[in-house]
Amino acid sequence: MPNFYATTPIYYVNDRPHIGHAYTTVLTDVLTRYHKLFGYDAFFMTGVDEHGQKVQKAALAKGISPQEHVDEYSEHFRNLWPKLNIDYGYFIRTTDDHHKKFVQNSLQYLFDKGEIYSKEYSGWYSVGEERFFEESELIDGKDPISGRAVEWVEEKNYFFKMSSYQQKLIDYINENPNWILPDFRKNEVLGFLKKPLNDLCISRPKSRLSWGIPLPFDEDFVTYVWVDALENYISGVQDKKHKDGSPLWPASFHIIGKDILTTHCVYWPTIIMAMDWELPKHILAHGWWLIDGSKMSKTSGTGVNPMDYVDTYGVDVFRYYLIREMVVGLDATFGHDSFVRRINSDLANDLGNGLNRIYKLILTHFAGKIPVPAEIGEQEKELEKYSQKAMQFAKENIGEVKLSLIVEEILNSVRALNRYLEITAPWKLAKSTEQKDKDKLATVLYTGAETLRVALSLLSPVMPQKAQQGLLMLGASDTALKGGELLGKGEALFPRIQEEK
Ligand code: MSP
Repeated sequence: MPNFYATTPIYYVNDRPHIGHAYTTVLTDVLTRYHKLFGYDAFFMTGVDEHGQKVQKAALAKGISPQEHVDEYSEHFRNLWPKLNIDYGYFIRTTDDHHKKFVQNSLQYLFDKGEIYSKEYSGWYSVGEERFFEESELIDGKDPISGRAVEWVEEKNYFFKMSSYQQKLIDYINENPNWILPDFRKNEVLGFLKKPLNDLCISRPKSRLSWGIPLPFDEDFVTYVWVDALENYISGVQDKKHKDGSPLWPASFHIIGKDILTTHCVYWPTIIMAMDWELPKHILAHGWWLIDGSKMSKTSGTGVNPMDYVDTYGVDVFRYYLIREMVVGLDATFGHDSFVRRINSDLANDLGNGLNRIYKLILTHFAGKIPVPAEIGEQEKELEKYSQKAMQFAKENIGEVKLSLIVEEILNSVRALNRYLEITAPWKLAKSTEQKDKDKLATVLYTGAETLRVALSLLSPVMPQKAQQGLLMLGASDTALKGGELLGKGEALFPRIQEEK
């Protein structure tokens, strides 16, 4: 059994979860469920990033301790995931003792190896992004990512010799063209690496920031939050094993948003190289959800609350929209009209109608039992090809996380089924008394049910509950229908969203 381990970024606990967090996590959940479906021992980890200046500031503003703040806010994330049907294997918090020890041990190792040195330093610091920027990187004197003010900071700090890994990293990226996905993000990283790489400031003086993991070799300093956070990907799975006994690290996939590309594709791999660990197998950066065309910044407070759509229309339909609407890698716009259009056309019209038709006809004309087909002819073989194509496409493209295309291919098989029903018109066949029409009716309904079984099972990573309900309606299990299976209880799985005029 092949192994699979994916990660989401760990989320800052200074904000309530919004669609950005929901998307990254749903995407990773769907990817992991596809791997399970295709026979992998698959596991994914998510969690929260609890140290740093932002959290310290947020706690101070509320007049509570940072620990009280993170205990409260980490629950907002933990409580959201079951509502979104997220089946993670482990939830890491960077305030966990085992994580803190892991980070300290790794920093001590780097210090002893001569990879870390101290010096007086000054630079432009952005509290929003928790990092220093070069003068040349600033836009109108502001943080180029968030557009917020930066502060001039002068202090002693510790540095990791990141610059000495620049060429090794460039070579690795060039030798492993699928390491960073999609391709244009790889080029972005290579573009960034054309300029000389600086060493990485890995500490913050306690006088300025006390909320962090103390440096093991200098108690006046805490660890820079990004170094602390990135190591979660290994610290969180240290004591875990795949079923075959092998360790989870190296991860098969880091799933991240495009805004945290440099930290994951430059800082993290160079730290890994210095630590003599293995590199993750792939890093995939997705785009941003925009609302009404504007960037939904993680701190601007314009985040749509995903729970509104989850509560109103149901979790599976929400997951379907996120996965189908965003081409992984590109930005997408979250809009109410596009939501209604997508759900009504793909789910209510195509999948829902197909399922209802087949279900009702079998209920009425075959006493609720899947008929045994008579002769499988050209029309049926043609339809079967669509199911096979969807299955093959999903298996071939899951490695590049082409989820919107995979879902579209599955829906194509459902649309082919509806066309097949229009042509064969089982409702007319049902009125005929001739044996050949009765036989054809059995064949059509059997073939329709089997097409739906394949489509539903392929959609199960995206819509776990609805797919399961649909399969139960068809009396289906994991294997092909034979005929004779008893239909389960029927329900309208995908009601049309009726908009008030
Ligand atoms: N704590 C860091 C990650 C450390 S990982 C070692 C962080 N956290 S975050 O909470 O600000 O954001 C986490 C993820 O949410 C990022 O992948 C980011 O891209 C994603 N999103 C935040 N807003 C988003 C959208 N509007 N759309 C899609 N995803 C975006 O960064």
